[in-house]
Amino acid sequence: MAADLAIGIHDLSFATTEFVLPHTTLAAHNGTDIGKYHVGIGLRSMSVPAADEDIVTMGAAAAAPIVARHGSDQIRTVVLATESSVDQSKSAGVYVHSLLGMPSSTRVVELKQACYGATAGLQFAAGLVHRDRTQRVLVIASDVSKYELDSPGEPTQGAAAAAMLVSADPALVRIEEPSGLFTADIMDFWRPNYLPTALVDGQDSIAAYLQALEGAWKDYTEQGGRALEEFRAFCYHQPFPKMATKAHRQLLRSSGHDSDDSRVLRDIGHTTDYNAAVGNSYTASMYLGLASLLESADDLTGQPIGLFSYGSGSVAEFFAGTVVPGYRAHLRAAAHQEAIARRRPVDYARYRELHGLSLPEDGGDHAVPPQTGGPYRLAALSGHKRIYQPR
Ligand code: HMG
Repeated sequence: MAADLAIGIHDLSFATTEFVLPHTTLAAHNGTDIGKYHVGIGLRSMSVPAADEDIVTMGAAAAAPIVARHGSDQIRTVVLATESSVDQSKSAGVYVHSLLGMPSSTRVVELKQACYGATAGLQFAAGLVHRDRTQRVLVIASDVSKYELDSPGEPTQGAAAAAMLVSADPALVRIEEPSGLFTADIMDFWRPNYLPTALVDGQDSIAAYLQALEGAWKDYTEQGGRALEEFRAFCYHQPFPKMATKAHRQLLRSSGHDSDDSRVLRDIGHTTDYNAAVGNSYTASMYLGLASLLESADDLTGQPIGLFSYGSGSVAEFFAGTVVPGYRAHLRAAAHQEAIARRRPVDYARYRELHGLSLPEDGGDHAVPPQTGGPYRLAALSGHKRIYQPR
């Protein structure tokens, strides 16, 4: 039986990059029929970071409005989930904590398991709040998705950060027990420390995602979770929006339900808008999907939402959230639409230049060219240290 501990997402905010590459530009360069991008994988454009943007600047930009609205006094923990980290030792969350002027009486940590990391962060946060309901946890998911130029994965790149405040009596979504869990030691997608771009077998990774969904859903039902027909909508990890369609169709079919286009559209249709414009934002992706759903669907008050989080390698979790009465007053639709709309389109040559950009590794003093119009930037490197500043 699903248990509601009245703990969950109190606020949700996302940020993305300065630049954007429309898929029409990529298709014109590589001769791909645009239908493959727009319809086949469901993407229209992908966010491209400026030279002075990374997971820290995006994470701070996503979290700043949350701290501005709620203050940081009750936030005793910051969890930053990423698979595009900037340091092997120091948590990127410590830079964000500093940029946001948060109190020193905070624990800060970084989590990694591919695109699943933020969901681990959310569940760990729920556990901390369960232990002390006066505490709040800031969970930040921030990633830059990068594949080799001219590889099949190239059109599924992107970048964004999502920040969530996890608290008791949340204003947006209550997270329920149980969760359905699945882990398998596989190599569908990975990035060794010495490579700037991910390695992937695309078709294998799709099969691995679908297998993980099956495993997580099976565990969810065995743990006493809700029946499929109780859910008003489903929100999936979206490496590209069409993946959510594939996943949901499989879930419907395998549990004996109609899986025609209208049913799939009804269940997931509102979750794909932001991801179609941003591309794969790895661990932030499912939470951009959740923001899209809450902001664009008709009233969801009291409705259960199914959430499926997948991280290659692989770990997956299926869980449910119930939408809280009054949630609409706390959404950030205008800011999110502005974050998408304000991005500046780059031509193919500029995109290629940004893709190939690497920061100096000699430990010298290097200013980073000012490019971002966002609130935080990577200003310089000095003595192997990254220097971040409010813009
Ligand atoms: P591909 O092999 O070049 O594409 O790459 P395809 O040939 O499979 O075509 C894609 C779809 O477009 C197909 O539809 C085609 O029929 C259709 P489907 O059969 O799948 O329904 N198509 C067209 N549609 C309309 N008009 C046309 C047209 N032409 C073709 N003219 C692939 C696709 C996704 C494999 C590639 O982009 C890739 O390797 N991406 C990266 C890996 C990835 O995203 N995997 C997803 C699962 S793994 C995951 O989610 C984890 C991840 O986020 C990482 C993490 O956890 O950290 C990636």
